[in-house]
Amino acid sequence: TPPSPALCDLAGRQVVVSAGPTREYLDPVRFISNPSSGKMGFAVAEAARDRGAQVTLVTGPVNLPDPAGLKVVRIESALELRDAVVAAAQTADLVVMTAAVADYRAAAPSGEKQAKVAGDVTIHLTPNPDILAELGRDKGRRVLVGFAMETHAGVERAAGKAQRKNADFILLNYPTREGTAFGGDNNQVTLVRPDGRHEDWPRLSKREVAEQLLTEAVRLLPPTP
Ligand code: CTP
Ligand code: CA
Repeated sequence: TPPSPALCDLAGRQVVVSAGPTREYLDPVRFISNPSSGKMGFAVAEAARDRGAQVTLVTGPVNLPDPAGLKVVRIESALELRDAVVAAAQTADLVVMTAAVADYRAAAPSGEKQAKVAGDVTIHLTPNPDILAELGRDKGRRVLVGFAMETHAGVERAAGKAQRKNADFILLNYPTREGTAFGGDNNQVTLVRPDGRHEDWPRLSKREVAEQLLTEAVRLLPPTP
């Protein structure tokens, strides 16, 4: 049976999704990272594909196979993520940043494995580029969506991020909501706009969150020529 037209609302659109963690190497065998599973980003990429979009999925190291029918770019560091996302975003209509980008990397990663020393060590970290903010500075007609996990003052902090980064909206979640966020199959998010308007969504599967995100993003897309 042919797909229903209602489900093809991204036909002719290019969508870029980032997913998973980044790895910031200290030396060839050690890195700084975080427990992002990549499930939320993969769900967004698959949902966009199924709604007719041409999708590029840029992902950090995760235990998920390449989804069929979309372009997958595997990266490790935030700098690699930036290069891949910025390149793919040039012709994109929608960019969704679900990646848990490490805020810092080693200022001077060692090319050789560092042996332990007696006593404390200090690692000099330097900030990574803010990819979403960079896309926001040269936004064009693209729709930009971010994610944020907060432990407190979530709506205020997420609205501030959406504003500073020039994102259309941010989906906010909390690490304490059981069975959600990191690694889970469900997610309970609040959609937060730059002006602070916000709406709580019910606890949904990550695929359902992805579908609602895309429905909201489609409303914000300029009409196709
Ligand atoms: N993000 C990004 N590049 C970074 C950091 C974050 O593109 N270097 C994106 C994330 O993918 C996410 C959004 O920005 O979509 C919000 O991430 P978050 O870590 O909450 O924002 P930060 O500005 O890093 O704020 P915080 O100090 O709270 O970590
Ligand atoms: Ca951060």
